[in-house]
Amino acid sequence: MKIERFTKLGFILAAAGSAVGLGNIWKFPYITGENGGGAFVIIYLLTVLLIGFSIMIAEILIGYMGRLDTVSSFEVLAPKNKNIWKFGGFQGLAGLFIMIFYSVVIGWIFNYIVTSITSLPSTVEEAESIFSNMLHTEFLTQLLYHTLAFFWITYVLNKGLKGGIEKMNMFLMPALMIILLGMFSYATTLGAFSQAFEFMFYPDWSKIDSGAFVVAVGHAFFTLSLGMGAIMTYSASLEKNSNILKNAFWVVLLDTSIAIIAGLMLFTFLYEYGSIPSKGPGLVFISLPAVFYEMGVLGNFFSIIFFIALAFAGLTSSVSLVEPMVQYFIDRFRWSRLKASISMGMFFWLFGIVAILSNIDGFKESLAWGGKNFFDWVDYVTAAIMLPLGGLVMAIFVGFIIPKSQVESILKPQLKWAFAPWYFSLRYLTPIAMFIVMLSLVGII
Ligand code: TRP
Repeated sequence: MKIERFTKLGFILAAAGSAVGLGNIWKFPYITGENGGGAFVIIYLLTVLLIGFSIMIAEILIGYMGRLDTVSSFEVLAPKNKNIWKFGGFQGLAGLFIMIFYSVVIGWIFNYIVTSITSLPSTVEEAESIFSNMLHTEFLTQLLYHTLAFFWITYVLNKGLKGGIEKMNMFLMPALMIILLGMFSYATTLGAFSQAFEFMFYPDWSKIDSGAFVVAVGHAFFTLSLGMGAIMTYSASLEKNSNILKNAFWVVLLDTSIAIIAGLMLFTFLYEYGSIPSKGPGLVFISLPAVFYEMGVLGNFFSIIFFIALAFAGLTSSVSLVEPMVQYFIDRFRWSRLKASISMGMFFWLFGIVAILSNIDGFKESLAWGGKNFFDWVDYVTAAIMLPLGGLVMAIFVGFIIPKSQVESILKPQLKWAFAPWYFSLRYLTPIAMFIVMLSLVGII
């Protein structure tokens, strides 16, 4: 049984801490770059508003009404067929799977904090070879930092909801925002800021195809932490009579603003210092360090605080990826928090090692199937199948299974006129969108 409760601010910061992660600062800028800028940003903002926001409200609602771990919440709330609906709660597994590569990437970030202190690459080529050396040859370095991430995350989870998760978010989230806003203010004084602004907000529709829509929906889910019960598990610890709409609004607003701020700042730096924005995941690990080098001493300083902020963003998201399964074992099997945290931690730590190996020369050949290595497979299966499926299940569960009268009695007073459009979006728009995304990501359409 849950007894710990978040404070009001604690919940918003923890949920925002979950949402604001590597997705906002590492992934959003590079997929914006890959998909041509402004037009993609507009599609992304629309999907966040129309689909992400609706599911956010639905996911908070399930947790708030169920008050338990994800599996039990589905079971308690389903009026009939409880034994089938409870499987909806196993979406929490997706979080553990995501952690397999998430923790490895946090390890890279730790490594970059350390190398920012000692030396920065002087050219993009050098930066590229440093990154690819780390990825393909430095097994022990990656293992060391991945293990550090494991210890940190497990430690915080073991401290519990208030003493661990809430406390960490209360410190790290403000710190993260201060760092990003500070660097962003500096970026606004540079000449290239208007160029970055134009790139991100002036749509060139010729650069958009149906693939961009799919990427946008998938990313809206990932960045808002939807579809695997993270937000649901946190919401089970909301005070009674909490305003679901307000909470959802703040989380979506914080997450979206931080993505936009990070994007504008990074593109300003890239344009100002003449680096070709490298397409793909290397943006933050390759182009950016070379740009920081160009800035001189200030760049060194920026590099350190930037990677610290990125690590903070990653760590606050990580605890939310693991907490649903920790809570599951505590509620259903009466495990102690210590046992649950260590077991779940060991799971992603061990498979994380396989993920590291799957990039290392000499091992990668045996850890790849069908053109993707283990690392990429985990990313693909979670993002393409598990999260949209989790979202689909939640939309149907709240839209059709929980009796409308119950949903209405909680949300109508908060949503007022917007209740009907929200309910409609949940019942029809969202499931259709999810379905299209899944079909296209697995290559059927
Ligand atoms: N939202 C985080 C990010 O943007 C990642 C994340 C944390 C997540 N919890 C989640 C993604 C739950 C999906 C589901 O990096």
